[in-house]
Amino acid sequence: MSLSELTHNPGPLNQNYIAPQPPQNHQIIARPDPIIKADAMAFVRFARKEPDLMERFLADFGLVRCAVQTGTRFYRGAGGAAYLVAVEEGEEDAFLGFGVTVAQSDDLDRLAAATGATVTELDTPGGGRGLRLTDPDGLAVDVVHGVVEVEPLDRPEDAPLVNTPFSKVRVNQGVRRALRPSPIFRLGHVLMQRPDFDRAIQWYMRHVGIIPTDVQLLEDGSPALAFCRLDRGSEPADHHSIGILGGLAAGLLHVSFETLDIDSVGQGHQYLKARGWSHFWGMGRHNFGSQVFDYWKDPAGDEWEHYADGDVMDASHPTGYYGLGRGTLWQWGDDLPLSMRPDLPLEALPDLHAQGAFGDLPLERVRAFFEAMQKPARPWMR
Ligand SMILES: [Fe+2]
Repeated sequence: MSLSELTHNPGPLNQNYIAPQPPQNHQIIARPDPIIKADAMAFVRFARKEPDLMERFLADFGLVRCAVQTGTRFYRGAGGAAYLVAVEEGEEDAFLGFGVTVAQSDDLDRLAAATGATVTELDTPGGGRGLRLTDPDGLAVDVVHGVVEVEPLDRPEDAPLVNTPFSKVRVNQGVRRALRPSPIFRLGHVLMQRPDFDRAIQWYMRHVGIIPTDVQLLEDGSPALAFCRLDRGSEPADHHSIGILGGLAAGLLHVSFETLDIDSVGQGHQYLKARGWSHFWGMGRHNFGSQVFDYWKDPAGDEWEHYADGDVMDASHPTGYYGLGRGTLWQWGDDLPLSMRPDLPLEALPDLHAQGAFGDLPLERVRAFFEAMQKPARPWMR
């Protein structure tokens, strides 16, 4: 299909390469009754062999060291969160887990009673109470309440002014961004890979209360990737706070932080580039969640995303089901980096599968994933 055919058919044809229709009779993800409903994302925790080097990256990414305890450094952003990142000195580089907050103190007690976890007083920045769960793949998930906020370092009084052809709201002033890191205001989301997708999403729905916002399916109708939001009732929540990709091994895909606006994403891009860090993907605009994004690699190879202008929805918003495809992850910007594109020929999969290269994943599921992700991202791209 040519570009001119597509551009002359702007509606369903264009939509179909960004959000393909799901297979017929596809699976619907059934939500269990949640024990609690998390209210916000709080922090991420890492172990690093070289914490000094990690700190240089974090500083250039927009995070400021705010406390040190035995072997652990804490970093905050420009907003009110007491801390957003904890880095422990360790023998190995590792993603140790993440934390969410609950709105009511009772939620902790209910979760403790249901899981056998113990609520403790926290000695981390901001204090509060919390408990630690372990997800089915061994990742620590902290649930906390009553962490005291700090004075923001930067809270713009006014939203940045954007001129359009129809509304010139910025008069007698330019757009000038300083050569400095993006200001970071919040932890946005954590995207993880899990070998048993159903087990993982059921666990997070039950223990954290997440709602699948948009789900991408393989040709057999089974879910492969789910973007899930927190259940804040009638209050809007980010399109996704926890994302789960069904894949070979359990691991972190990326952590993501919200900066002020699109120019702040560009500001951070320029700064991280000037400081010599490894760019991974972007800038572009995502499809599911609509964020303008930019991804960078930290010194241990984990991905860190800056984003701005993401979607929010309340708990009434229905779950969307779509086909999986490489081109579904972005609306504009570059195609996925080569390292995110499976490049093995389909004919090679049975032998590799027989040799155990894909763990316990059934061959048909591996094949369906490769087929979906090898389709060109756009009809005019290869
Ligand atoms: Fe993301």
